Amino acid sequence: MYQVIARKYRPQSFDDVLNQDHIKTTLRNAIGQGRIAHGYIFSGQRGTGKTTTARILARCLNCQQGPTGDPCGTCASCLEITAGGSPRRH
Ligand SMILES: Nc1ncnc2c1ncn2[C@@H]1O[C@H](COP(=O)(O)OP(=O)(O)OP(=O)(O)O)[C@@H](O)[C@H]1O
Ligand SMILES: [Mg+2]
Ligand SMILES: [Zn+2]
Repeated sequence: MYQVIARKYRPQSFDDVLNQDHIKTTLRNAIGQGRIAHGYIFSGQRGTGKTTTARILARCLNCQQGPTGDPCGTCASCLEITAGGSPRRH
């Protein structure tokens, strides 16, 4: 099955996202402290990881092991979000 490149190589965890340390630290701390805002706006140049980061955050919050900074990647929720078709948006 054909898969667009941006999906095929999209990082699946914060560790895989290059640079953007201020974003990763902010989001990891928010999750770790249970202080998650009711909304986030990702702003920046094209192709810098906004959609990627939003999907990782979605996995962090919706993982059956979560909220966690290291989503399991194998539960139903993680798999759905990876596939890009999860209807659950919190
Ligand atoms: N910081 C990053 N670390 C690793 N890979 C990245 C990073 N930013 C982008 N990529 C790669 O580039 C692809 C496109 O990234 P993404 O779709 O997240 O960008 P975007 O900021 O949402 O772009 P756009 O403004 O066009 O919507 C991803 O699939 C990923 O492989
Ligand atoms: Mg995008
Ligand atoms: Zn999971």
